[in-house]
Amino acid sequence: MGYPHQPHAKETVVLSQYFGDPEARTYQGWVKRGGYAALRTALARKPAEIVEIVKESGLRGRGGAGFPTGLKWSFMPKEKSKPHYLCCNADESEPGTFKDREIMRWTPHGLIEACAIAQYAIQAEVTYIYIRGEFTEPLAIMQRALDEAYREGVLGANAMGTGKRLDMYLHRGAGAYICGEETALMNSIEGRRGNPRIRPPFPAAVGVFGMPTTINNVETLAAVPHILNRGAAWYKSLCLSNPKSTGTKLFSVCGHVRRPGNYEVTMGFPLKDLLYDLCGGMRGGRTLKACIPGGSSVPILNREETESCLLDYEGCATQGTMLGSGGVIVFDDSADMVYQIMRLARFYAHESCAQCTQCREGTAWVTKILQRILAGDGHQKDLDLLLDLSEQMTGKTICVLSDSCAAPVVSGIRKFRQEFEAYLTGARRPAGAGVAV
Ligand SMILES: Cc1cc2nc3c(=O)[nH]c(=O)nc-3n(C[C@H](O)[C@H](O)[C@H](O)COP(=O)(O)O)c2cc1C
Repeated sequence: MGYPHQPHAKETVVLSQYFGDPEARTYQGWVKRGGYAALRTALARKPAEIVEIVKESGLRGRGGAGFPTGLKWSFMPKEKSKPHYLCCNADESEPGTFKDREIMRWTPHGLIEACAIAQYAIQAEVTYIYIRGEFTEPLAIMQRALDEAYREGVLGANAMGTGKRLDMYLHRGAGAYICGEETALMNSIEGRRGNPRIRPPFPAAVGVFGMPTTINNVETLAAVPHILNRGAAWYKSLCLSNPKSTGTKLFSVCGHVRRPGNYEVTMGFPLKDLLYDLCGGMRGGRTLKACIPGGSSVPILNREETESCLLDYEGCATQGTMLGSGGVIVFDDSADMVYQIMRLARFYAHESCAQCTQCREGTAWVTKILQRILAGDGHQKDLDLLLDLSEQMTGKTICVLSDSCAAPVVSGIRKFRQEFEAYLTGARRPAGAGVAV
C-alpha cells in the first residue's frame, strides 16, 4: 500500500521519513533503518540523563497543550516506593487531526521504541498505548509490531539483554472524544466511565491505578528516538521563528485545499506557505475565507490572520489562536461559517461527558441556538446570548471540552458576524432541504 503524498522540498522529513515504506513496519526493516539504536543508547544511560536531554531539546507536547516534555517527565517521583506508568495517548479524536494514526500505521516500531525510552526515563514498569477504537488498521499493525518486539527481546523481562524489565500493552478505546483527555483516558484504562478527573492531584502524583503516571501524545513520543540519535542541539536547531518552539511538526490539512494530507515542517513555518505552496492553494481557483490551525478546539482565523500566521506555539498565540494538535481545517469563500460553527458545536454537544453543568447544558444550548439561526428562526439577541453563554462555558469546568466548544463560536461571531446577521435579517435564506442542521 502506497502513501499518496511525496515529500516536498520545503518539508523537513523526520517523523514521516518512512511513511509509505512498508518494510519499515517490520522489526528487521526497522533495525535496518537504524531502529532501536536509540533505545540501546538510552538503556546504557541513567534515566535522569535522558530526561535532561529531552528538556534540553525544547520538545513540547504535540497533543494540544504544548507542555514541555522533559519538564513533565521530571515531575515523576524519583524514589520508587510505588509502580510508575506511562500512557501513550493514541486516541486522536480531535476533528481535523489525522497524524498519530499515520505514525502508527507506518512506523509502529518507532513508536514502541519511543515509548520504551520514555518508560525507562520516568522509571515506569509498564506503558499503556491507548488507541481510539475505530483505528482498526493501526491497531492491527501496532499489535503485530508489539508481538515482534517481545519475540525479538526488545521488550519483556530482559529488554535488549540489559536485565531491565519493559512491558507494553495496547488498550483499545471505544471511540469517545473525551477519552483523549488525559484523566478520562486513565479512568478508561481502569475500566471506568471516561470522565475527566479534578486536578490536583496531577497524574505525576496520582495517575492510573492511583500511581505516578506520565501521559504523552504519540507524535511527542515519536520525536524522542531522533533526539537521542542526533542530539538535543540538532533538535533545537530545527526552528524557523521562536526558540521556544523547536523540532518538526506534522500538520494534517483538510478542507478546501487542492492537496489535503499530512505535511511535516519545521516549527515556525508560515501557514500561508503550507496552504498555498505545499497544499496547492484553494480548490477550483476559489479564495481562502478562514482557517482553524490547531484542530477544531482552537479559535478560527480569518484570511488576513491565516496569511500572517507562523506555525509554532507563539506564532499562533500572536494571531489569537493555538497550535493545538496541528489539525488545519481550511474554508474557502463558498463556506457557510454559521453552518460550519454549528457542526462543530454539535460535535462537542454529542461528546460532552455531561459531568459539568456549563458543558452539558452549554454545548447543547449553543447548538440549538445555532440551528435556530440556520433555520431562519433566530432572534436579534441570539448573538449576545451565544457570546454570554460561551463566556460561562470558558474556564469553569473540569476539563476544557466546554472551552473548546466556545472558542470557534466566539471567534466565529467576532470575525464573521455579517454572516450570522444575514440569517437574522432574512438577507440569507434558511439552510434548506439537504442541509442537515
Ligand atoms: C477533550 C479533550 C480531548 C483530548 N484529546 C486528545 C487526543 O485525542 N490525543 C492527545 O494526544 N491529546 C488529547 N488531549 C490532550 C491530553 O489531555 C493531554 O494534554 C496530552 O495527551 C498530553 O500529551 P503531550 O504533553 O505529549 O501533548 C485532549 C484534551 C481534551 C481536553
